[in-house]
Parts: sequence; structure tokens; C-alpha cells
Amino acid sequence: MPKILDGVAIAAAIKQEVAEQVKVLAAGGVRPGLAAVLVGNVAASQIYVRSKVQTCEELGIFSEMITPPEDITTEAMLDLINALNDREDIDGILIQLPLPKQVDTKALLDAVSPAKDVDGFHPVNAGRLQAGRPALAPCTPAGVIEILKRSGIPISGQNAVVVGRSDIVGKPAAMLLLHQNATVTICHSKTRDLAAETREADILVAAIGRAGFITPEMVKPGATVIDVGINRITDEAEFYKFFKGDAKREAAFAKRGSTIVGDVDPRAFEVAGAYTPVPGGVGPLTIAMLMANTVQAAKMRRGL
Ligand code: GUN
Repeated sequence: MPKILDGVAIAAAIKQEVAEQVKVLAAGGVRPGLAAVLVGNVAASQIYVRSKVQTCEELGIFSEMITPPEDITTEAMLDLINALNDREDIDGILIQLPLPKQVDTKALLDAVSPAKDVDGFHPVNAGRLQAGRPALAPCTPAGVIEILKRSGIPISGQNAVVVGRSDIVGKPAAMLLLHQNATVTICHSKTRDLAAETREADILVAAIGRAGFITPEMVKPGATVIDVGINRITDEAEFYKFFKGDAKREAAFAKRGSTIVGDVDPRAFEVAGAYTPVPGGVGPLTIAMLMANTVQAAKMRRGL
């Protein structure tokens, strides 16, 4: 039986550590603060941002949710970000993505002060990460490393294959694995023989954004499979392809008409030595690492 890597428990341990650091800072009169900017009415984004703000409250971090209207302009967003850059009580600025079409997302991410860039999306932080300098690293890839380390899974010298090359997950995950001395391969939609590459993976990171994309034949027996995907499926045929015989899932699907599946076909997990489930694997780490980055930003900005 493969080992299930419990992201909820690992995230809880990290949040506990962050809460302790917040207490130490409070004793010195410092309260870390996060500003979360949520534009418009994307349901998934609303759930994520609320969860981020709520976690701040739990850990003693100051937080402020800013909700500009859907039709905000790039200029108005730039004014808002500049004001947050100047605020002494704000250590971290998070702009929830995706943003509406009319705003220039890259220009906005570039406007966030790198010192307050707790998502690690600013090119300065991407460059620092690449160069092996102290940097605020993107939360989800940083969470992947925490799961591996805290589960006692060796990284050094292992073949790590990352499927997906996004700026938010794939590329930084590859860089962090490289810094842990893995031999890293990045695969993408133009990779010639994807299954041949993924079957070489001791650590397989799936960050494609397509439900159940990684099939059992693509996994080396005994590999560690990290599933970064969060895909909502509503199609019944697709549901039964992945979850036939899973009574709990079937009951939930019948009730809600949808379920969440990762980028890994659940049947592929059976081939693995260890894997992160969806939900309850990588997802909880994203918020835990955001909290850790906010405290790190608060310390760095004060030279602590
Ligand atoms: N949208 C999806 N994932 C993320 C994330 O990690 N950070 C932000 N800001 N937006 C996202």
C-alpha cells in the first residue's frame, strides 16, 4: 500500500511554528500584516482568499481584504498597490489571480514591492530564487519541498520530473528541487515521449492543470507522486472513469454534482510508493507557506 502524504497535518505543523514566531515578534512590538487583494467575483478565488485571511486571524497575523470591483482599471490597481507598498503595517501583498481581462496582470505583479511579494511572483524574487539567493519563494512549490522533507523522502541525487512549466508552480518547483540537489527534468506539452520521462521519476510533480492527466503507466513503481492539480469535474462519465467503486466519493458526487480531482489519475497513486491526495495534499501547504512567507517578509523588512 502506498503511503499517503498528509498535507493537512504537515500544514498544521507549519502553522503552529508560524504562530510561535508571531508570538516572538509580538513580544518585540511587531505584528506581521498581510493585504489580500481580491478583484471581482470569481467563486474559487473568493474561497481561497477568505481562507487565507481566516488563517491569518488564527495565527495572530494582521490581515486586510481589499475587494476592488470587477471593472477596475490597471491604473487604479497600480495606485492601490503603491499605497500598500508604502504602508508600514503591511508586510505582505497578495493579488489573487486570475485578474479580469482588462487589467495588465504582469504590470501589477511587477508593481508589488519585492520585499512584500509573499507570493514570490515578482521577477526580482524569481531571479533571486534562480540565483540561489534569499528570496520569497512561491508558496505552492515551497510547500511541495516541505511535504517531501517533513515526510523523510530523500531529494538529493533523486530523479525529479516536473510536468508543467508555469511561472507559478512548474518552474519554481524545478528550481527548488534543483537547490535540494535533485536531478531535475521539466516536461511540458511539447515533450516528445512524456511517459518515458515520467517513468524515470523517483519524485514526480504533476502541475499541468488537467484532470487525471498522469496515468498509471506513467509512474515508476514506488515513486513519490506529488499532485499539485485542483480540477473540478462535473461530467458523470469522467467521474466514474476516475472514482468507480469509491463509495464515499460516489455519495459526495451524487449530492453535489461535482468533485475535485488532481492532475493524477487516482489509479496511478496505487503504483506509487507515496503520494499526496487531492484534496488534502499540496493544497493546505499553499496557505501555510503564505503565512510563513508573511512572517519572513516582516522579519526581513526589519532586518531581523
Ligand atoms: N491563484 C491560484 N493560485 C494562486 C496563488 O498561489 N497565489 C495567488 N495570488 N493567486 C493564485
